[in-house]
Amino acid sequence: MLNNLRVTLANGKSTEVFFPDTVRDLSERLSGYGRRVLWVFDTNSRNLLSQLPEHCVILPSGEKYKLWDSVEKIISAALDARLGRDSIMIGFGGGVICDMTALAASLYMRGCRLVLVPTTLLCMVDASLGGKSAIDFRGVKNLVGTFYPAMDVLISPSCLRTLAEAEYMSGMGEVIKHAFLSPDMDLYDFLVSEHDAILRRDRTVLCEMLRLSLSVKAGYIERDPEEKKGIRQALNLGHTFAHALETVDNFGTKHGMAVAWGLSRAAWCGVRTGVTDPSLAEKVDSLLRLYGYDIDRRIERGRWIDYSSAVSKDKKNISGTVRFVLLEDFGRPVLRELDSQIVREAVLTSAGVQG
Ligand SMILES: NC(=O)c1ccc[n+]([C@@H]2O[C@H](COP(=O)([O-])OP(=O)(O)OC[C@H]3O[C@@H](n4cnc5c(N)ncnc54)[C@H](O)[C@@H]3O)[C@@H](O)[C@H]2O)c1
Repeated sequence: MLNNLRVTLANGKSTEVFFPDTVRDLSERLSGYGRRVLWVFDTNSRNLLSQLPEHCVILPSGEKYKLWDSVEKIISAALDARLGRDSIMIGFGGGVICDMTALAASLYMRGCRLVLVPTTLLCMVDASLGGKSAIDFRGVKNLVGTFYPAMDVLISPSCLRTLAEAEYMSGMGEVIKHAFLSPDMDLYDFLVSEHDAILRRDRTVLCEMLRLSLSVKAGYIERDPEEKKGIRQALNLGHTFAHALETVDNFGTKHGMAVAWGLSRAAWCGVRTGVTDPSLAEKVDSLLRLYGYDIDRRIERGRWIDYSSAVSKDKKNISGTVRFVLLEDFGRPVLRELDSQIVREAVLTSAGVQG
């Protein structure tokens, strides 16, 4: 088992991240939480345990169930199981289950204890760490939520064996993003040298990749736990491009795939505005190509109005201006407004990094 990672968040709270190697190690650690526990699964994550625990709720899988109704089911099951404030809710699943369990835990009796066991790569490297809980409301993604960090996050790459390839590659998009947000090149070099083993989901290699990737995210959230200083916004690298793509594509593109594309577009815009050295943009593109992402994709010209209106509605749109995250160097993100003509060129053409 790898060393734990402790992440300090707002108000003196911290999250301890453990890396149990096997499902057995994971189960052993989980049994240590005792019996005053409510487990929250979805219909897929429940299959990772051979036996269901005494108190559990199993929700349908998918973003379309990330709703208040599901949170109500969790709270109701907690009451039936007679959970107290010192009891524990365990969110065992992908980002949808972890976000909803965190929200339910933050509300139940004004806050009970929370443990997260992320079972998708995206949730391991992103959603499980940083304390954001949420549900979608009236069609608006993550509109209702709280900051409520888990006390423990248990990350076991053995959970990834059953994950669909598209979900795995979606998570890899966020890992690659972290490689460029890291002030050193350790994760980048690792992703290049261990490419085959990573795609094979070799457990030992994955453990190291997860630790490196999470350390990058931890560095940003520790400096700006509640996203008030603009530092944590750097984690949105590629996301403004990605969210707009997801919108015009009616969410037919998986989030991490859209992020991968968005990273390439952000690098292109960085070169075009003199922020990013072309050699860095080349590294972004070649790493994305190495992992097989379609970064040559274009938005059809006729969709530009839709795309650009989705960009202006992005949640990072502060007082009427959209600020994109661009890269000055490895680990040196900057927030910049971009001329709409540059964004247009970036997404409508498949020009190379030199423009
Ligand atoms: N809180 C945050 O900071 C944060 C950050 C990023 C994303 N998110 C949220 O995360 C959500 C996306 O997370 P996701 O990509 O994990 O989606 P998800 O939770 O919908 O999981 C994707 C699919 O994989 C299935 N699954 C989960 N684990 C599995 C396993 N081990 N084997 C087989 N199938 C498995 C799920 O049932 C689901 O069908 C979004 O709602 C997003 O808003 C939150």
